[in-house]
Amino acid sequence: MPDIMANTNNGNYTIRVRTGSLAQLGVMADACSKGKKAIIVTDSNVAKLYLEKAVRSLCDSGFTVASCTVPAGELSKSQQMLFMLYEQFYAAGITRSDLIVALGGGVVGDLTGFAAATYMRGCPLMQVPTTLLAQVDSSIGGKTGIDLPYGKNLAGSFYQPKAVLIDPSLLSTLPRDRMADGMAEVIKYGCIRDDMLFEAIEKGTFDLEWILERCIRIKTTVVQNDEFDTGERMLLNFGHTIGHAIEKATGFSKITHGEAVAIGMVYASVMGENAGITAKGTTARIRTVLARRSLPISTDLDLEVLFDAMLSDKKKLSGKNYFVFLKKIGEAAVYPLTSEEMKMRLAKALDDVKAMGDAN
Ligand SMILES: NC(=O)c1ccc[n+]([C@@H]2O[C@H](COP(=O)([O-])OP(=O)(O)OC[C@H]3O[C@@H](n4cnc5c(N)ncnc54)[C@H](O)[C@@H]3O)[C@@H](O)[C@H]2O)c1
Ligand SMILES: [Zn+2]
Repeated sequence: MPDIMANTNNGNYTIRVRTGSLAQLGVMADACSKGKKAIIVTDSNVAKLYLEKAVRSLCDSGFTVASCTVPAGELSKSQQMLFMLYEQFYAAGITRSDLIVALGGGVVGDLTGFAAATYMRGCPLMQVPTTLLAQVDSSIGGKTGIDLPYGKNLAGSFYQPKAVLIDPSLLSTLPRDRMADGMAEVIKYGCIRDDMLFEAIEKGTFDLEWILERCIRIKTTVVQNDEFDTGERMLLNFGHTIGHAIEKATGFSKITHGEAVAIGMVYASVMGENAGITAKGTTARIRTVLARRSLPISTDLDLEVLFDAMLSDKKKLSGKNYFVFLKKIGEAAVYPLTSEEMKMRLAKALDDVKAMGDAN
């Protein structure tokens, strides 16, 4: 598959999707930095699986390589880890001409990206995502950041990498539930922009590399049109307004992001059908495809709990609330919605989904 080019206000970069491409890390890195020093940041799970191969590839291209491993899990997207990385960069003698490589899932990508954006006011960064979610979503678009004790992703920056290297074969070691998690985002891309992608997942006839390419092209295009997240990028939030509320109401622990988004997409689709915006039958297709991937399709949370969580997390633009509805599979649009309307429509959707039961 040819490389995908992302063109942004802050430079253009290559996204390479190729099976086995971790071995080409060094060659790609060579084109990304003037210096010959590199530091790889990874997590404790990924280090065991892929760090050695990544180091070897960089060494083969003449880099002096250091590495730094953070504990696996969301807790590493912290102030403490950020400052620990600065210390490691300093100890490794990293300068603005050297390279920082993020090898891992979205946690490593977000944390390392923010460290690279801020260390010496910005060092070259390469993203090497290793989860499905990171390969189709978080490694592309330049959003980086850490969590603060008061909430998720509260400190961060927009910082584009010099290149993104995506090796689908790294997903072979990903636990099943993590794969399903990323699949929820893949299904979201199908819902908002790509009926062919959605149909391929429905039929179960797809090749992983093909899926990755379709999703990455959508994310790249949407981000290019709206680098700083003030318009079109909101479409990527389909299923996320309710999804985030579910994550928040369940304390970000009982349910994964992908599971919450899966549920959010079902309710958003029901709300859309009820409002006459979404084509009839869309919800049934979404529920079937999610359930087949072992993703949840309903929540037991009650209206008040969900709505409270939503109010504290709603995406606001110029004081108005916006909500992403599907027109049909493959086409989405953003609509203004008052809090009262939102609550009313959500109440009805909760009842409707309950009545559907677990049948698809
Ligand atoms: N920047 C963005 O635009 C953006 C978008 C979406 C999500 N995010 C962020 O991404 C994070 C979630 O990312 P995630 O779902 O990738 O989680 P993660 O980075 O925690 O990875 C999930 C788990 O899989 C393990 N793992 C990673 N790759 C593996 C592999 N190849 N084989 C076996 N195990 C592997 C990790 O060690 C971890 O335990 C959240 O913090 C979220 O806020 C950012
Ligand atoms: Zn998401």
